[in-house]
Amino acid sequence: MYLTIPVLVLLVDLSFEKEYLSWKLLTTKVVFGQAVQLRCHLPKQNCCHNYTRSWRGGPDYTLLTLNEKSSNYTKYIEYLDTESRTSVLTIKSFSESEVDIIYQCSYGFSSYEAILQLTRHRYEFHPTESVPVSLSFNGTHMYAKISLEKVFPKPQCYGNTNEKDITKESLKVISKRNGIFYKSMIDFNYMIDPQHCFGLVTITCTVGTSRITIAEQNTSCRKNGSTFHGKHLAQRDSVASNSHDEESNIVGKVLIVLCFHFFNGL
Ligand SMILES: *[C@@H]1O[C@H](CO)[C@@H](O)[C@H](O)[C@H]1NC(C)=O
Ligand SMILES: *[C@@H]1O[C@H](CO)[C@@H](O)[C@H](O)[C@H]1NC(C)=O
Ligand SMILES: *[C@@H]1O[C@H](CO)[C@@H](O)[C@H](O)[C@H]1NC(C)=O
Ligand SMILES: *[C@@H]1O[C@H](CO)[C@@H](O)[C@H](O)[C@H]1NC(C)=O
Repeated sequence: MYLTIPVLVLLVDLSFEKEYLSWKLLTTKVVFGQAVQLRCHLPKQNCCHNYTRSWRGGPDYTLLTLNEKSSNYTKYIEYLDTESRTSVLTIKSFSESEVDIIYQCSYGFSSYEAILQLTRHRYEFHPTESVPVSLSFNGTHMYAKISLEKVFPKPQCYGNTNEKDITKESLKVISKRNGIFYKSMIDFNYMIDPQHCFGLVTITCTVGTSRITIAEQNTSCRKNGSTFHGKHLAQRDSVASNSHDEESNIVGKVLIVLCFHFFNGL
């Protein structure tokens, strides 16, 4: 009996030791405002203390780090990992002006430069608007228009009262491309039955992995003023409002009947 021995395909690529310098984006999900890391593979030979390591880049393409020394420690940090023969550049509070520009890592006389692009990477831009905002009330509707100038990816938004999901009947979100981000307009408009208690009304959006409260407003069923049957409600416990409704309907009918008789009598 023959035993077929599978031919071992040597994964040449995996064992191939990089002879040349090159850097790659190390951060798997770039979140603007947070730190981003680039990792430079140093050549196997002469690694790692024989020569000077350096990173160049930034909006003005300047020297960012020289070995572990930084031109600005609040912005750039470099560390050498001798085991993996890599130099890692950390860029703190990553901003829009730091994308789509050249970064160069160099070691001795060799250097590698490339443009930092995000098109094939996961990235997020969380809105910078001050939220949550409060909702307005005009007597019949709760409403708000909120514009998020920059956001990525497209926000998924939901409207909720304490009791239920009101997304469908209350919320419209339009997102338009804005550079590598989106601009989103959130239009909320919800008809309130003033006889009803809603508790907290909220608009929340998820932006990538982050959940953001865009607006929230407490509604009170004891609200005076513009509410229908306001005076009666103010005197009574809100829980009794349903039975009160029926009562006032009966009163209405009695009135109509009375009027009818009155007109008939004329
Ligand atoms: C260092 O970087 C921070 C953050 O980007 C910046 O606010 C500051 O002005 C920089 N300092 C210098 C000396 O460039
Ligand atoms: C309240 O807003 C809604 C929707 O925007 C509108 O249809 C309604 O006429 C407004 N009511 C008042 C009293 O302004
Ligand atoms: C809404 O009301 C509840 C109970 O009174 C309170 O705990 C909560 O902080 C309020 N929320 C807002 C957004 O006003
Ligand atoms: C109703 O409105 C009046 C005046 O507008 C106010 O003084 C009173 O506190 C309100 N009552 C309730 C229960 O909100």
